[in-house]
Amino acid sequence: MSVGIDEISFYTSGQYLDLKTLAQQQGIDPNKYYDGIGQEKMAMPSLDEDIVTLAANAALPIVERVGPDAIAALLFATETGIDQSKAAGVYVHRLLGLHSNSRVIELKQACYSATAAVQMACAMVARQPERPILVIASDVARYDLESPGEATQGCGAVAMLISANPRILEIAPEVGNHTEDVMDFWRPNYRSNALVDGKYSTKIYLKSLKRSWENYTELSGVTYDEIDYFCYHLPFGKMAQKAHSQLARVNRSGQTPEELERQIEPTLIYNRAIGNSYTASMYIGLCSLLENSTDDLTAKRIGFFSYGSGCVAEFFAGVVQPNYRSALHPQKHQKVLSERVELSHDEYLRLYHFANPTDGGEHPMPEETRGRFRLATISGHKREYIAR
Ligand code: CAA
Repeated sequence: MSVGIDEISFYTSGQYLDLKTLAQQQGIDPNKYYDGIGQEKMAMPSLDEDIVTLAANAALPIVERVGPDAIAALLFATETGIDQSKAAGVYVHRLLGLHSNSRVIELKQACYSATAAVQMACAMVARQPERPILVIASDVARYDLESPGEATQGCGAVAMLISANPRILEIAPEVGNHTEDVMDFWRPNYRSNALVDGKYSTKIYLKSLKRSWENYTELSGVTYDEIDYFCYHLPFGKMAQKAHSQLARVNRSGQTPEELERQIEPTLIYNRAIGNSYTASMYIGLCSLLENSTDDLTAKRIGFFSYGSGCVAEFFAGVVQPNYRSALHPQKHQKVLSERVELSHDEYLRLYHFANPTDGGEHPMPEETRGRFRLATISGHKREYIAR
């Protein structure tokens, strides 16, 4: 029996800031962002959107197809949690009408936790193959204004159904890990924006790639040239290019720059338009590869490098299944992206500066999102979500 991703669906907010607008404001060359970091736009959540609404909107097509009672558990990965105690997935459980006998857990380890959730879900399905698991990764990436990280913000959620005999990707059990106690990116409980030592974080990312790859190839016996495409964690597109060049160098691949580019370029398309979505970004990259590659990916092996600052990293691989295209949602995803509205710099600042009320009063949220689910009110310190 094989186990892996049976269906994948993502969602992002209905508005974005073009990085050329940010560059103009800063009086710098927009190519620093377009070429230098490989990003064009960053999605900004509206005031009635957060990780819960993004997540529920991402998962809706999957739940509509399989039915809410089919899902045994919801594993919710995020590093921008909205509550220190209650799992954000419990709100999503209600919005999607999941069965009260299904369980919900929130997982955290920076951008890595979606991969922990996928691996846990695979193990759970291996024990009970008739019980599929819904994994959702949802995040809002925020850095201080005028910090180097500002241009690498974004938001998005991805939902994946993990099942036996999956239609899209069989995930192999072998993984390679690297864990190290470092402070490259973190967010103390009293801050809403992440702190980051940017250049150091890129060095630790690359070190973790090398270490987890060495662990993976030793344990699995899979060699570099047996992998056809690579999905890297995508804090920004250029990071994947740096990572892939390094992995090719470590393995003395002798590939041309064009050959290296071909193995990652289709993974970058959606993220270039969304920005960083932390836990969701590598899996939105997978979606981008599956939906935008003009090659038939059947039987191709995809290597994944998942990185979570702090840090925990993992290399693993999966094989694309026959007829995978029939399980994808390319039109829906392209519609979500193409119908977005561009923000002016002032509108971006208005959204950026909104602070969640902390006085316990009644705070209705302006109706802005185009998604099915929205945060209607914060009242008595409670977040109240509704379906439209
Ligand atoms: N045209 C083309 N390229 C240009 C340019 C221009 N006019 N001007 C500058 N560039 C290039 C630079 O040469 C540089 O390229 P290289 O990296 O290839 O040398 C690139 O643009 C970036 O410019 P800077 O070196 O000036 O870097 P910066 O000060 O803008 O900071 C950053 C870049 C450190 C990544 C910053 O965006 C940041 O701190 N981001 C947040 C942290 C992050 O994403 N870290 C990634 C690893 S950690 C992780 O993965 C977890 C996570 O999700 C956060």
